[in-house]
Amino acid sequence: MRDKNSPKAFSSPLIPAANVLISPNQMGRSPLTSIENTLKEEVVGQDQAITAIVQALVRAATGFRNKDKPIATLFFSGPSGVGKTEAARALTKAIHHNPKAWLKIDCSEFGEPHTVSRLIGSPPGYVGSDLPALLDKEEVEARKWNVVLFDEIEKAHHSLHNLLLQVMDEGTVTITRRRAQEEARVDFTSTIVILTSNVGSRAVSRLLEEQQIGFKNGGKEDMQQVDQQIFSAVRREMEKTFSPEFRNRISDFVVFQPLGEKNLFLVLEKILKQSYERFAEKGFAVNLTPKMKRFLVHEENNPEMGARPLLNRVERHIDGKIAELYALGEIKVGDYIVVDLDERGEVIFRRAERVSITVQTDFSTLGKGNKNPFEDPPLV
Ligand SMILES: Nc1ncnc2c1ncn2[C@@H]1O[C@H](COP(=O)(O)OP(=O)(O)O)[C@@H](O)[C@H]1O
Ligand SMILES: [Mg+2]
Repeated sequence: MRDKNSPKAFSSPLIPAANVLISPNQMGRSPLTSIENTLKEEVVGQDQAITAIVQALVRAATGFRNKDKPIATLFFSGPSGVGKTEAARALTKAIHHNPKAWLKIDCSEFGEPHTVSRLIGSPPGYVGSDLPALLDKEEVEARKWNVVLFDEIEKAHHSLHNLLLQVMDEGTVTITRRRAQEEARVDFTSTIVILTSNVGSRAVSRLLEEQQIGFKNGGKEDMQQVDQQIFSAVRREMEKTFSPEFRNRISDFVVFQPLGEKNLFLVLEKILKQSYERFAEKGFAVNLTPKMKRFLVHEENNPEMGARPLLNRVERHIDGKIAELYALGEIKVGDYIVVDLDERGEVIFRRAERVSITVQTDFSTLGKGNKNPFEDPPLV
């Protein structure tokens, strides 16, 4: 256990000098600004949620908190595939400059009552006592301001909720370690606990259907009213799903909004950028025509799933096919491949003359002047 009286107890990646409390105004120009910027770069269309996250951090960093509890317990709610897990990852990256410096617990793996004991270990003589507790003391306490993510908590058995109550309430959990067959206290008081949940997402999509905004964004006032209704719908569903003692222990509720069409295009660019980088490593380049991008965003539009179907479509139509062509020797080092849709709506791949490649970020040109300068016959 660390000594709470030592000067280091206050030090955090957000506060450079030990024991120095900074006013929120100073914070505005401090690393918190860069955290906010990183979050906005990585997570699109969720500015309200990001503001709420940063506010929670400002409060925690200024030292007005109970030192026997986690630094903050943030509850991310909203529909599936709109950036909740992504925001937790981005926050980790922003604080620790490494998106993998977190502990992520996938709660869907703990749906059965007996699985929860895998997390905290079983006492000697019990089934599973030879297995290590998955909630590893060293991993939780690895760094100050460690992000510990309990992802999709509504999928866990309710005994995991009791464990979370302990985390939030006492800031510590007792586990049984296999090696020494001894008990250990896992200290959460230097962690940011993030819980994510899709609770209320059905109510939100019903609401969107009723409002008939769905994919099309309404006027600003309409949207504000809808935002408010979304917030209340999530709140109502939360009240049905989680007990008052559970809800009362959460320090900040962060509601993620459904992604509109414009934001889906932005998410698509982010997903494609990663694919482009992988192709560039193999020595060739790929670009998509605006028509192809529109196809990826609109094919089987299902706002309930957020951006997740986009990932699948990019995998199916782009990554998978390109890998196949590469394996067949159809794509070679130095090639520039353009992916387009033909008149019949079939996806086609053309080898084009190498031209300077830019990743399109200006969506005002989408759909305009979509001329295809590449006359070569399609590869497939
Ligand atoms: N708002 C967003 N900004 C950037 N990428 C997003 C966003 N929403 C979804 N994505 C993309 O979709 C994938 C799934 O999003 P995720 O954050 O896991 O959804 P969930 O809200 O269900 O946790 C992410 O890996 C990311 O590539
Ligand atoms: Mg998620």
